[in-house]
Amino acid sequence: MELLNEMSLEEKIDQMLQMSGMFYEDEGVLTGPVNTAGFTEEEIRQAGSVLGSVGAEKLTKIQKEYMEKQPHHIPLLFMADIINGFRTIFPIPLAQGCTFHPALVEEGAAVAARESAAAGLHLTFSPMADLVRDARWGRVMESTGEDAWLNRCLARAMVEGYQGRESLREKGRIAACVKHFAAYGAPMAGRDYNTVELSERTLRDDYLPAYQEAVAAGVAAVMTSFNTLDRIPSSGNRRLMREILRGEMGFGGVVISDWGAIEELCRHGVAKDNREAAKLAVEAGVDIDMMTSCYCKNLRGLIEEGIVSEALIDEAVLRILRLKNELGLFENPYKDADASEENALALCQEHRQTARNMAVETFVLLKNDGILPLEKEPEKEKIALIGPYVSSKEIHGAWSMFGNPDTSVSIADGLRNKGFEKILSAQGCGLTEGFGRTAEDSGKLLREAVELARSADKVVLALGEHRLHSGEAASRADITLPADQMELFRNVCEVNKKVVVVLFSGRPLDIREISEKAAAVLAVWMPGTEGGNAIADVLFGDANPSGKLSMSFPYSVGQVPVFYGQFRTGRPHTEGVEEKYVSRYLDIPNKPLFPFGYGLSYTTFAIGPVQLSAQHMRKTDRIRVAVTVKNTGAVSGQEVVQMYIEDVHGSVVRPVRELRGFSKIELAPGEEKEVCFEIAETMLRFHDIHMNDVSEDGAFKVYIGNSSETANGASFVLDLR
Ligand code: GLC
Repeated sequence: MELLNEMSLEEKIDQMLQMSGMFYEDEGVLTGPVNTAGFTEEEIRQAGSVLGSVGAEKLTKIQKEYMEKQPHHIPLLFMADIINGFRTIFPIPLAQGCTFHPALVEEGAAVAARESAAAGLHLTFSPMADLVRDARWGRVMESTGEDAWLNRCLARAMVEGYQGRESLREKGRIAACVKHFAAYGAPMAGRDYNTVELSERTLRDDYLPAYQEAVAAGVAAVMTSFNTLDRIPSSGNRRLMREILRGEMGFGGVVISDWGAIEELCRHGVAKDNREAAKLAVEAGVDIDMMTSCYCKNLRGLIEEGIVSEALIDEAVLRILRLKNELGLFENPYKDADASEENALALCQEHRQTARNMAVETFVLLKNDGILPLEKEPEKEKIALIGPYVSSKEIHGAWSMFGNPDTSVSIADGLRNKGFEKILSAQGCGLTEGFGRTAEDSGKLLREAVELARSADKVVLALGEHRLHSGEAASRADITLPADQMELFRNVCEVNKKVVVVLFSGRPLDIREISEKAAAVLAVWMPGTEGGNAIADVLFGDANPSGKLSMSFPYSVGQVPVFYGQFRTGRPHTEGVEEKYVSRYLDIPNKPLFPFGYGLSYTTFAIGPVQLSAQHMRKTDRIRVAVTVKNTGAVSGQEVVQMYIEDVHGSVVRPVRELRGFSKIELAPGEEKEVCFEIAETMLRFHDIHMNDVSEDGAFKVYIGNSSETANGASFVLDLR
């Protein structure tokens, strides 16, 4: 507070500007097209934080130069998008959701923190806690999926992985920033940046919990979202930011706008100019203006004219200074920046192993007629490796700008590392339509692949979406694979029935035809640096797949948004029952192709009947729920035992079921374990007819199984009298 009182108004406003690192790394940028805001050299030099620059030597140099020019030598904050790893790239968050393994996700975040902290970074714009239910939206790849409970668990895991549980000053820790507040993941028509229309109840029951959990876990910052909610853009939404985020959730940290979002209040049409945009944003409690000049060119005038109180500036700057202090930057402005440590940690074997272990647990075995695992002895069966992803190292996902694809392990590398000296492979087609090839070239590629498939005992067909066809500004109305790849698939299946499809994607895809014709389908998402090794581990049985879908695979894009926690409606349709006047399609089923929580294994598990410690529950009671789980197959494996609860009646319509617990267990063949959960009254709460967050008396059902479609259940009654 003392420092704040010594600062001039100019200095305070400077703290509220975040500048792209490009301006510090390349003088030319100032006069180039990036400088859309017309920043002056002076304004850039005074910004309080820098976005997107990394590197111990570089950031140390910038910090030194910056602080010398600062009247009070206030250190810069260095922030960047470390979404799924820094130099060692982990699977995309949507894949991490499929692990149902918070401790592993936390370790991945901790590795990213160690590597980026040594590179001088102070804060990452992660976790992205946006709930997602529409596979057309490209940024589903950054989320951990369609379920609020799973997203809560993993948002906490990531915050604790980045920040630790003690102090941000701890070596190898960075501050986390949960985003995008709020409900960016529900854009109309799945089109990025589009309007979000949610009821207050859906917003509170489904979309806010993961952000709230990140706040409860002590997340240092929150980023506003581009979208509107109730026709109010988040960066100017006072009720959302002050009443809900700061008031109800008790968030006391820094709120930063998304890139350009304050100036976008003008394009949304709620601000007539940047000056009004600055007013709306600062009144909403947005502390840092990312990459526009709204604050630095307008706040002074707004204060001098008495339109905005300087107290608003003081509270914002105090939060920024407090974050710098919590990171220990006033004592050590360079924190963990250390070039030799940076190089030693980047992609070290320990980190690679963590990435490989995680990648294995993200893979979801969607189908297997018994063809997998493959025989490792090449002489025993001739395996052909075909497809555009065979040798591709572009398997990092869209948000991994600090990872170098050359350091990735492709599938072909993975097989070589398994001892396959000679790999029979053919590309078959390009990754994207046409791929700049002549028809003749394409024809030749296809023929070579088909000939190879014809001669092989089995085919591993590595297909998928290009890594940049998901991510920001990458929405798709058609979520099938490119035509070239489907042509390759059909032709290969014509000549060989033993086809294993390894599917790369940043989103659930429409893979109906593939799931019908292939002998096996393994969804590997964007698996990161160790992808090829992890895929080879699973294909040859050195690892048993255990991933469970964090987001439903739609039967067709016509279904989206599709998710397991749907509502019954007044005219529920029962699959297989022919009725006209019910909620259904004429041409496709209501159910997704593969549901949330689904995933196969190389072994089988028997989950016994649900045992309840009581059938009657008072408010302070807890019901113990138990099942026995037995590995009834021939190999060890992990099963994700999931608990869902159905509130049979409510003062408002309730989802058909909601995830309220999961446990991932490892069992040897024949081994049996009891898995227990507890039901507490708090798990039964929702926003009732009066918008109170309460539970209600009445009948409940609890289901326990290995997917959201399990029917293995029992009943109990909650009695609040
Ligand atoms: C982008 C993204 C946001 C990211 C920010 C900084 O537009 O929406 O997720 O953190 O800009 O790169």
